[in-house]
Amino acid sequence: MPFRSPYEQADIFCQKIYSKAKEEDKIPQSKPLVTLTFAQTLDAKISAAKNAKTKLSCEESMILTHHLRTIHDGILVGVGTILIDNPRLNEPSLLSTVNNPIPIILDTNLRIPTDAKILHYHKTDSAAKAPIVVCGPSNAHSQKKKEVEGCGARVICIDPSECDAEGRPLIPSILKALKSVGIKSVMVEGGANVIGSFLDCSASSGVPIVDVLIVTISPKIIGSRGTGASDQATLASHPSGLDLKDPVYEQFGTDIICASVLAP
Ligand SMILES: NC(=O)c1ccc[n+]([C@@H]2O[C@H](COP(=O)([O-])OP(=O)(O)OC[C@H]3O[C@@H](n4cnc5c(N)ncnc54)[C@H](OP(=O)(O)O)[C@@H]3O)[C@@H](O)[C@H]2O)c1
Repeated sequence: MPFRSPYEQADIFCQKIYSKAKEEDKIPQSKPLVTLTFAQTLDAKISAAKNAKTKLSCEESMILTHHLRTIHDGILVGVGTILIDNPRLNEPSLLSTVNNPIPIILDTNLRIPTDAKILHYHKTDSAAKAPIVVCGPSNAHSQKKKEVEGCGARVICIDPSECDAEGRPLIPSILKALKSVGIKSVMVEGGANVIGSFLDCSASSGVPIVDVLIVTISPKIIGSRGTGASDQATLASHPSGLDLKDPVYEQFGTDIICASVLAP
């Protein structure tokens, strides 16, 4: 096989996966295309311990992750990841030349600290975009909402009728709200609770919620202290598990990437 740089490999891999997803031609108009992606160990852990930030991906699979970010309009995480990892979700080395996605945070009660990196990074790099924070109805007129908006973020409050019994916005309502502000594709990056919600919603809704699943498998074993990728997914509607359709496997550096569409 001719030599390919990891950048070329990532580009070719994504073309293959997304042309397949588009062929399926079943992405509802009411929601963006959704890619659910995370890095896990051989024993399916996404972090070394609860509340721990853990580097799992090798350099080559990180290049794939960066490439994926550039082909989506938004990158979504839960507030738990902000509180633990404090990420910027924007990588300066790739920002200047290509599409920069909008960071999106699911945060029902606006627990995000006002000094979180993600709220301020767009002010230091003109190529970076200001984040969107999706919250529940109790924050529609709160002081914290004003403070978060004061950092330059857009805060979207979901209507009570589109939230669960605890007031947490439902995934289809979040996706509808994101589509209505122009987000046509979103890359969901975790953490465990958000992965669980997207998997459960995809399994139970009968219509596709997650269009593409991309899992990086790192040659590492963490053991029982780690947080499992699907610890928060009950998959109650699928007692024998959720099937992946036509999975594609490819090695990036020392990691294996598994990509597939989810069968609802
Ligand atoms: N390996 C990887 O690829 C990867 C990627 C990202 C993160 N991580 C790891 O994951 C860990 C964090 O996971 P986490 O579970 O604590 O946090 P998380 O999934 O990032 O955030 C969970 C929080 O998001 C909020 N949320 C709002 N709407 C939600 C919805 N519909 N479904 C689920 N959550 C919703 C909830 O708080 P409210 O109820 O207050 O809104 C919830 O507690 C960290 O250790 C981090 O390093 C790993």
